[in-house]
Amino acid sequence: MQNTVEVRPARLADLPAILSLYQIVSEKSGGIIRVPSEVTEEYVRSFLENSLRTGISLVAEIEHQIVGEIHAYIFDLQAFRHILAELTIVVHPNSQSQGIGKVLFIKFLEYVKIDFPHILLVELFVRENNQKAVQFYQSLGFEIHGRLINYIKNADGSLETPLQMMWVNPNYVANFS
Ligand SMILES: CC(C)(COP(=O)(O)OP(=O)(O)OC[C@H]1O[C@@H](n2cnc3c(N)ncnc32)[C@H](O)[C@@H]1OP(=O)(O)O)[C@@H](O)C(=O)NCCC(=O)NCCS
Repeated sequence: MQNTVEVRPARLADLPAILSLYQIVSEKSGGIIRVPSEVTEEYVRSFLENSLRTGISLVAEIEHQIVGEIHAYIFDLQAFRHILAELTIVVHPNSQSQGIGKVLFIKFLEYVKIDFPHILLVELFVRENNQKAVQFYQSLGFEIHGRLINYIKNADGSLETPLQMMWVNPNYVANFS
C-alpha cells in the first residue's frame, strides 16, 4: 500500500463524500447491484442512518479523502436482531487492489467481535461469477449458505446467481440484552 490509510467510524456528515464514492463505483458493472440512477441521497442517507443506529459503518481515508466504505445493519424485526445484514463494501476504483478492502473488512469484523455480542451472523451476497470476491470473503471466514438462482437481472437482460454468505461471530452471547 503506497499511502497511509486511516479507518474510522463514519458520521452523518460524511454523507456527501460517501454518496459521491458510491456513484463512482456504481458506474462499473459487476460490482454493487445498484445502477447509478439508483444511488441517490435517500439511499445513502437510509443505510448510513440505519448503520449508525443499529450496525456499523466504517470509512477508509487517504489524506482525509474517503476512498472506501463498509456498512451493515440490523433489520428491525425481533427475529432478525442477531444478524447484521445489507452488507456493502466499496473502494474507489483508483484505490482498488491496494489492500484497502481487506483492511476495512478486518476492522469491521473486529468491531463485531468486540462491540456486538448480540450479533451471531454477518450476512452478505456476492455474485457467484465473481470468484475473486467469493474467495476473498472465504479467506475472512465467510461460508456459503445459499444460492439464489437467477436472482439478479442485469441491464442487458442476462441473469446471474448470487451466493448468500455468512460469517459467525465467535463472541456471540445468546442471552445478551
Ligand atoms: C470488492 C472491493 C471492495 C475490494 O476492495 P479492494 O480494496 O480492491 O480489495 P483489496 O485490495 O483489499 O483485496 C482484497 C481481496 O479482494 C480481491 N479483489 C480485489 N479486487 C477485486 C475486485 N475488483 N472484485 C472482487 N474482488 C477483488 C482480491 O483478490 C483480494 O483478495 P486477496 O487478499 O485474498 O488476494 C472493491 O474491488 C470494490 O469496491 N469493488 C466494486 C464494488 C463491489 O463489488 N463491492 C462488493 C459487493 S457489495
